[in-house]
Amino acid sequence: MRQKRTISIIVTFLIAAILILSGIHSETVIAAKLKLNQQNLTMAVGTTYQLSVKSLPKKAVVTWNSSNKKRATVSKNGVVKAKAAGLVTIHSNIKQSGKKTKKLTCKIIITKKENTRKTLVVYFSAPVAERSEQLDGISSASRTTTTKNYKGNTEYIAELISKETNADLFKIVPQNAYPNTYDKMLQRAEQEQENNERPAIKNKVNNISQYDTIYVGYPIWLSDMPQIMYTFFDTYDFIGKNIIPFCTHGGSGLSGSVERIKILEPQTIVYKGLAIYRTYTTNSDSKIKLWIAKKEK
Ligand SMILES: Cc1cc2nc3c(=O)[nH]c(=O)nc-3n(C[C@H](O)[C@H](O)[C@H](O)COP(=O)(O)O)c2cc1C
Repeated sequence: MRQKRTISIIVTFLIAAILILSGIHSETVIAAKLKLNQQNLTMAVGTTYQLSVKSLPKKAVVTWNSSNKKRATVSKNGVVKAKAAGLVTIHSNIKQSGKKTKKLTCKIIITKKENTRKTLVVYFSAPVAERSEQLDGISSASRTTTTKNYKGNTEYIAELISKETNADLFKIVPQNAYPNTYDKMLQRAEQEQENNERPAIKNKVNNISQYDTIYVGYPIWLSDMPQIMYTFFDTYDFIGKNIIPFCTHGGSGLSGSVERIKILEPQTIVYKGLAIYRTYTTNSDSKIKLWIAKKEK
């Protein structure tokens, strides 16, 4: 009799333990599963998006907040309204009785209105007027002689992109022209880079706010963008725009330039760049067209 009682106490205890443990486990699983339907979004001004919490327990209460109500508002049901271009974070707080509040976020890049979208191709190109065989094999500047005049490699690609995308074209013209011999150009580039200079630009993009996508092209100089490109990025406001970098080079590829643009323009969508080896410039049309079509971020 006594033995029977002991067994039934042990069984009851075990069942209780299993129930408690499975309860804790399922709570942990639910907490871990709680997720927003989007953690990163791109929205155009004037559009709305319904955010929601995945695997939300029935009795949980969700409250929503926007980090910047001028850029985007969020309703009590999680509907986000994009109001002005820029970065904004939507916070959702999930409360369940007796439990710690769980916090989730969604980062949103808000771009200008869809109907004001135009594309611009901006480039800097500085071909040297020397015979190509006289140039340094690894790092020389170049010239693509598809026309009678010297044409820079980057210039050639910029023109192709502009044709293909029906975009306006803007050539960055330095206030102080670069020398057209390789040695002198290298000397000046080294000095500009060493002193982190911002060489002045002579011309201006007309009303940059009309463009929502900007292809930006440059030759690689000394494993980086020429310093004049830093002047360009310092000059204009690219908040909420799409920047699509491309470069021509003599072996270094993009050389970390896309990551540097991302640091310069944290509130901008910077796409995966394209690097064209200088001697392949005029043979790269199909590669460039494919890259344009893909538009990879
Ligand atoms: C001053 C200078 C420095 C360069 N440094 C590099 C380099 O570090 N890495 C590289 O791959 N190419 C380098 N190049 C080669 C150019 O990136 C390449 O020739 C490019 O296609 C030139 O473009 P452009 O004709 O549009 O000016 C350098 C060229 C010059 C003039």
